[in-house]
Amino acid sequence: MAEGRITPTFSHGTTTALVLVAAVAAIGGLLFGYDTGVISGALLFIQKDFALDGLQQGWVAGAVTLGALVGAPGAGALADRFGRRLTNMAAGVLFIVGSLLGAFADGVQTLVIGRLVVGLAIGVTSVAAPMYIAEMAPARIRGTLVSLFQLAITVGILLAYVVDTGLAGSGSWRWMLGLAVLPGALLVVGMLGLPESPRWLVKRGRTAEARTVLGRVRAGGLVEGELAAIASDVAHEQTAPWSELLAPTIRPALVVGMGLAVLQQVTGINTVIYYAPEIFESAGFASAQAALGATMGIGVVNVLSTIIAIWLVDRVGRRPLLLVGLAGMVSSLVVLGAGFRGDVHAGIGPVTVACLALYIVFFAFSMGPIVWLMISEIYPTRIRARAIGVATASNWGANFLVTLTFPALRQALGSGATFWLFAAFGVLALVFTWRRVPETKGKSLEEIERVWVHHLPLR
Ligand code: BGC
Repeated sequence: MAEGRITPTFSHGTTTALVLVAAVAAIGGLLFGYDTGVISGALLFIQKDFALDGLQQGWVAGAVTLGALVGAPGAGALADRFGRRLTNMAAGVLFIVGSLLGAFADGVQTLVIGRLVVGLAIGVTSVAAPMYIAEMAPARIRGTLVSLFQLAITVGILLAYVVDTGLAGSGSWRWMLGLAVLPGALLVVGMLGLPESPRWLVKRGRTAEARTVLGRVRAGGLVEGELAAIASDVAHEQTAPWSELLAPTIRPALVVGMGLAVLQQVTGINTVIYYAPEIFESAGFASAQAALGATMGIGVVNVLSTIIAIWLVDRVGRRPLLLVGLAGMVSSLVVLGAGFRGDVHAGIGPVTVACLALYIVFFAFSMGPIVWLMISEIYPTRIRARAIGVATASNWGANFLVTLTFPALRQALGSGATFWLFAAFGVLALVFTWRRVPETKGKSLEEIERVWVHHLPLR
């Protein structure tokens, strides 16, 4: 029995086992960031090697998003049936297979299949990793631990920028894609040594195992109260059918999750993440080199600003960070748009860099981490996996639409008006957050469930 065991602690009573759980699961985020970021640099060389036409280029670039769209809802069902841990491991295996297929592809078909498999893995990980961390974490530091997932995404994006730039001289796109095998293997091996989520175990009637796991990840081994709360939450409740997503007690949570997921994308983040070098060039940067340097800077700012969220999310709460972050994003987008109006002149470069950097800072401590966090914590256990799957799929759908239409939008409206359009969605996101998004800081997952069931006040 775990109660008697001395549990090694990290700080403030956080067990080392728990930090390890969050760190390993977050490797999924690293792969998510790396594999979405790496393709822009690799595409240049793939295009030459395989003589791709426009449509084939679209497939190579878009396959990951398409795979993720399928993987996300699938992951929900997998996580309910086989557990959170095995689902995360499955993502790791898919990452390895997809990366190898891409790296050794002898033609465009194999390459696209490899990218689709990597996309599936990203879809699965973007559901399973935050969910697993949220279910393992004590309420007090859940925000911090789940935000590690977003930190890992940003590190992955930065790594992709660095690898792409480093290998650009030799044009080794196979290495660019293949390097993802390493973190993929780390995810699988790391997960082998980690326990299953106690909430899932209780749901499967395996209460004794759940007690042991909680003992490992709770300092002082104080688990009985929490175990009782979980048990009463999932008592008499089988995994709910899909139709339950629309039940009156679940619907408001579904709206919040899907709303935040879509708003995270339609406020334009990935036009910056995926198209930054082009934006910098069109803003008057003289050389591709300078534009790439500025892009790398954006990657660093993204990582560093995510740390602000990790530090603050369990102290000041989710709502204040979201509201301040969104206000800042809107302001930066408005100024950015204004800078692009009229002719590009010598002065626009520094203004663009400053606005883009500020926009990233504001995104990285608000919509970036908190959307993934809220999606993973606002749903009741019996429907959580499926609801996260649906919200995550909406995130990928919106991502796909925005990145697909961005070049055309810029052509039709001009860069200035396009950024103003994102700003308008930012205003919508502000109103939505103000009116609909509950504060979940410090509440247990079971307490959050009660907010919806009993219509408790949001703030
Ligand atoms: C978003 C990604 C984005 C990344 C940027 C994530 O939260 O879901 O679409 O590329 O943040 O850091």
